[in-house]
Amino acid sequence: MQGVAILGSTGSIGTQALEVIQRFPDRFRVVALAAGRRVEVLAEQVRRFRPELVAVAGPEEARRLRELLGSGPEPEILTGEEGLAAVATAPGAEAVLTAVVGTVGLQPTLAAIQAGKRILLANKETLVAAGELVMREAARHRVPIIPVDSEHSALFQCLQGHPREGVARLILTASGGPFRGWKRADLERATVEMALRHPRWRMGPKVTVDSATLMNKALEMIEARWLFDIPIDRIGVVVHPQSIVHSLVEFQDGSLLAQLGATDMRLPIQYALSYPERLPGPLPSLDLVALGSLTFEAVDEVTFPSLNYARAAVTMGGTMPAVLNAANEVAVRRFLSGAIPLTGIYRIVEGVMAAHTPVPEPDLEAILAADRWARQVAEAFPA
Ligand SMILES: NC(=O)c1ccc[n+]([C@@H]2O[C@H](COP(=O)([O-])OP(=O)(O)OC[C@H]3O[C@@H](n4cnc5c(N)ncnc54)[C@H](OP(=O)(O)O)[C@@H]3O)[C@@H](O)[C@H]2O)c1
Repeated sequence: MQGVAILGSTGSIGTQALEVIQRFPDRFRVVALAAGRRVEVLAEQVRRFRPELVAVAGPEEARRLRELLGSGPEPEILTGEEGLAAVATAPGAEAVLTAVVGTVGLQPTLAAIQAGKRILLANKETLVAAGELVMREAARHRVPIIPVDSEHSALFQCLQGHPREGVARLILTASGGPFRGWKRADLERATVEMALRHPRWRMGPKVTVDSATLMNKALEMIEARWLFDIPIDRIGVVVHPQSIVHSLVEFQDGSLLAQLGATDMRLPIQYALSYPERLPGPLPSLDLVALGSLTFEAVDEVTFPSLNYARAAVTMGGTMPAVLNAANEVAVRRFLSGAIPLTGIYRIVEGVMAAHTPVPEPDLEAILAADRWARQVAEAFPA
């Protein structure tokens, strides 16, 4: 029986992970759950999974949760950063699923690594902001980091049993998002509602907007760079609108290995939980004949400049990826609140990166300082 703690249990990844866990009550046990403000959803999860420990955003959420649980289960309830750290290091958990959104995941992920937990990583912002530091800590504590992101899960699966020296390129696939085929002038008119209507995946609002700007793929390039220790100039992206091929590895001999599967996050979540074993999936076999054709096209990097930001940030190194990530988080929030157009996200990210002088080989303090600085500048940046 594997004890599992989940950071971000009320979100898109968190709730799907609990669906997977519920199908295998003999294999996984929920030990601790952390969420933010959706206490009604969390209360239901607590009733169903009976964790010993839960964390919520603040004292008001804790009070409401206690009220909702009434005379039911009585888990320990903690709040804020302290709560996240406690869930990340919960004694009964062997694995910690990091499914919060944003850099808020960084410190609890480091705490979980230092406590020797197996990391099931959905929170890509952690690796974007502090990839080198996180991977170094994971190696030091001999902690595996298993990707949950579907593209990285695909790469992880394709790389099994293959020496890293044999790898020529990693190729991430992108659905293209809701604005595939649009030009920059059209993009100026994209509304929040349009950006949130993703053609393939149902996800939380931040990652959905990131998919619409292709910033998600930029963050994923950086995530892949650190997860698989491959230089950024050997990480490519192709648009694959069907989202069936989840990513590919090209080897030195010209062979390509791809991982295919239904467009359903429960599959990579389940693989991360059960790795290296495979358990029965929740879906019928993929009907290749019904799919008919799988297509691939180039990314329009003039309309969607995000991938270049990733290349530039990794090449400049130091604190620059953390700045890209923080500026994007703020810009997405400003877009979602209706304050700026979608293309304002590019202007903010580009402007904040241009204003930053990266600190080389940053420690955690330097990364957090760069993150704070970038948020401040991005908040006021004209878009
Ligand atoms: N969704 C997908 O299909 C998908 C696919 C690949 C990768 N990812 C990555 O997975 C991560 C999660 O994405 P998502 O789509 O699941 O996001 P989401 O639906 O917005 O959920 C985010 C979760 O984090 C919690 N949270 C946010 N801020 C918090 C804080 N300060 N303290 C404690 N909890 C906090 C939220 O709690 P409340 O809602 O209770 O406030 C919620 O449980 C992101 O890094 C994303 O890029 C997602």
